[in-house]
Amino acid sequence: MTGPVSGKTPAQPPQVIDYEGSDYQQRFWEQGGRAYEDLAERIALRKLLPPAGRRLVEFGAAFGRLADLYDGYEQVLLLDYSRSLLRQAQTRLGVGGRFVFVAANLYQLPLAAGVVDTAVMVRVMHHLADVPAALAQIRRTVAPGGVFVAEYASKRHLKSIARHALRRQDWSPYDPAPYEFVPLNFDFHPTWMSQQLQTAGFRIDRELAVSHFRLPLLKRLVPAPTLAALDGAVQQVGALWKLTPSVFVRCAVPGASPASLPAELFQCPECAGKLTPGEDSLDCTGCGRRWSTSHGLYDFKEPLG
Ligand SMILES: C[S@@+](CC[C@H](N)C(=O)[O-])C[C@H]1O[C@@H](n2cnc3c(N)ncnc32)[C@H](O)[C@@H]1O
Ligand SMILES: [Zn+2]
Repeated sequence: MTGPVSGKTPAQPPQVIDYEGSDYQQRFWEQGGRAYEDLAERIALRKLLPPAGRRLVEFGAAFGRLADLYDGYEQVLLLDYSRSLLRQAQTRLGVGGRFVFVAANLYQLPLAAGVVDTAVMVRVMHHLADVPAALAQIRRTVAPGGVFVAEYASKRHLKSIARHALRRQDWSPYDPAPYEFVPLNFDFHPTWMSQQLQTAGFRIDRELAVSHFRLPLLKRLVPAPTLAALDGAVQQVGALWKLTPSVFVRCAVPGASPASLPAELFQCPECAGKLTPGEDSLDCTGCGRRWSTSHGLYDFKEPLG
């Protein structure tokens, strides 16, 4: 599943984790004993997401685990770097309806400016080697008056604080810098993350601390719905000190919501040029690159030919 697909040099974009061909859906969620985490995250998202809207994008949506939470939206863009996970999403959700499936890199988004009124990103920040670059891209895509709901993995949770105090962990949970515990897997300090979100132009208006009870023994003893309900009851108050491994943030984009969103969803990820429809492709009027649209997948990972 893992493995960088590009190196980071000044001329190149940051490394991207490669989930192409991964069994993420089965291994991590269906057989991974994570019913509690799934339910606790859904409780948090229901509190933070505007329940309805015109257009929503989920960045790093994978196989569309959370897609049922977007029922109130007229159009839903599911964007991921992995084509194979998007194919799984298509199988689950169907092609040709309100869902639009987009293969693309967060660091080079093919979306037009201000194209959505809600953006969501869950369990993706922890794979980002260059958070400021990704947040700048995301910020560009959200219309004024819109909302960005983001989840990140915190390094300053109770377990890491205890391990550090007992000298069983050589890195400090209080150090603001991101901690890369395995290649392309990062935990973040809440203060650092808040700064990045604000620097990108977001205004944080609500936070929730999530997964207080992510402990194997508790998860074995207490049914997942009960444990998740308990987590839901303390997510708000827990945000005062944020000692959980996962933190959810709702950010607002300043300004008044436009009367209508742009009709064109996409722009060229290479040159930001206008795209015109070709045969099973979108063709850039700026640089001439052609991007596949076959089988209901807008594919901006690599140009055709
Ligand atoms: C741990 S999975 C989370 C999936 C989903 N958000 C969920 O919570 O079930 C991380 C996803 O982020 C995607 N991803 C990571 N880096 C990306 C990037 N630079 N651009 C687009 N997608 C990315 C991966 O392909 C993968 O599907
Ligand atoms: Zn172009």
